[in-house]
Amino acid sequence: MSASAGSPPSFPTHVAIIMDGNGRWAAQRGLPRADGHAAGAHAVRRIVDAARTLGVPRLTLYAFSADNWKRPSAEVRALMDLFTEYLRAELGRCREHGIRLTILGRRDRLGRALRCAIGTVERATTGGRAMDLRIAIDYSARDAIVLAASLAGERRGGRGGAKMPVTRERFAHLLARAMHAPAASGDVDLLIRTGGEHRLSDFLLWECAYAEIVFTDRSWPEFRASDLEDAIAEFQRRDRRFGTIPCLDAQSAQSAQSA
Ligand code: FPP
Repeated sequence: MSASAGSPPSFPTHVAIIMDGNGRWAAQRGLPRADGHAAGAHAVRRIVDAARTLGVPRLTLYAFSADNWKRPSAEVRALMDLFTEYLRAELGRCREHGIRLTILGRRDRLGRALRCAIGTVERATTGGRAMDLRIAIDYSARDAIVLAASLAGERRGGRGGAKMPVTRERFAHLLARAMHAPAASGDVDLLIRTGGEHRLSDFLLWECAYAEIVFTDRSWPEFRASDLEDAIAEFQRRDRRFGTIPCLDAQSAQSAQSA
């Protein structure tokens, strides 16, 4: 759950990262883009470790958007192979450290080997309680919202009863269902985007309603534990108001006490 209005800066419960800049990192070194993604996979390992050590309860990483299918097929293939290899290789480490690893996004367009690796790692880590690691693959926040809205439209109460009202909480569950997540995401507290671009790129649009956003020029392959710590420190300096005016809250609490 997110911090409530006017409360002192707390530690982020849910950190999400748009891992951008692999391609440019590779180009600057005269390397193929696939090498940038491979370096990005090393950064994923490093940052998952750092987040776990820092005590981040939930980490969501944007690895492949629904629009990324428009990239050259060789790059898409390299990414899919990298995801498969990562999931296979990390299973043991996730279990060892109590990390629950789940994949967010459509499954039907993924290859068999990747779907198989996803099923295996999700089943094997389902009991993980130390950290909830979610990787978004073939993910689109807009598609999730459209699908959840259509699921909401189908919902009926009781036996052939009237349509049930859709609450925000209920909708969040439908969003999770739309993207094959085991549970609602919860609000994102801190969203980090690496690579110097300043946009959301169809990532967790509903969940980021009150996210604090930190943009960094650092490319994803170069993103270090200390950068994550800096982003969290920046988050802790932010004044999260959630639409309220904290000094008025304090005044009304005072007048309630003196009444
Ligand atoms: C965006 O940077 C990054 C991606 C589309 C892929 C993200 C993938 C990884 C970080 C690699 C491995 C991930 C896992 C989970 C093992 P870009 O390539 O568009 O960079 P550019 O904007 O510099 O071209």
